[in-house]
Amino acid sequence: MRPDKWEFLSRYLGWDKIEHCKRVAATAKEIASRFGADPERAELAGLLHDVARDLAPEEILRLAGEHGIMVTQVGRASPVALHGAVGAVLARNELGVDDEEVLLAISSHVTGRRGWTRLEQVVYLADKVEPGRSYPGVDEIRNMLAAGDFRGALRQAVIASISYCSKAGCPVDPETVVVLGELSRLE
Ligand SMILES: [Fe+2]
Ligand SMILES: [Fe+2]
Repeated sequence: MRPDKWEFLSRYLGWDKIEHCKRVAATAKEIASRFGADPERAELAGLLHDVARDLAPEEILRLAGEHGIMVTQVGRASPVALHGAVGAVLARNELGVDDEEVLLAISSHVTGRRGWTRLEQVVYLADKVEPGRSYPGVDEIRNMLAAGDFRGALRQAVIASISYCSKAGCPVDPETVVVLGELSRLE
């Protein structure tokens, strides 16, 4: 029998991460309803997005190998970078999620993805601005969003993640750089 969502999450996460997931779910639902994505799917993807966040690096690599997830250079150096892709596999296999867009949103929330859908963008952004987040520039992103500037807020969130990574000495995923380029292009 399939576990329910809460049983599934508590298999993998402690209460603090589950609380983060709940806040991302609520934030994603709200952003989705304002900016043209499906609120229910955003809520589900938000709730599940970090399910693989606390897996041991060797377990992440094992699951990635078992399920044909492409292990990028960044992922090899820092397996936690693959927690989105591995989380999507767990959501599909253990919880039975078969909504490809929801699975994509779980998968791409770590780095973004070139040509990503609005749902993926919403979940990515919700993860960066949920009320528990505090980092330099987060209020600016929240204000842009409150003013209706979804694209500007998303771009700022991507910049914030790149600058966080550079400061922490972790490698910046090349996909994130491509995403920033897409968001910076004039329309
Ligand atoms: Fe995450
Ligand atoms: Fe998260």
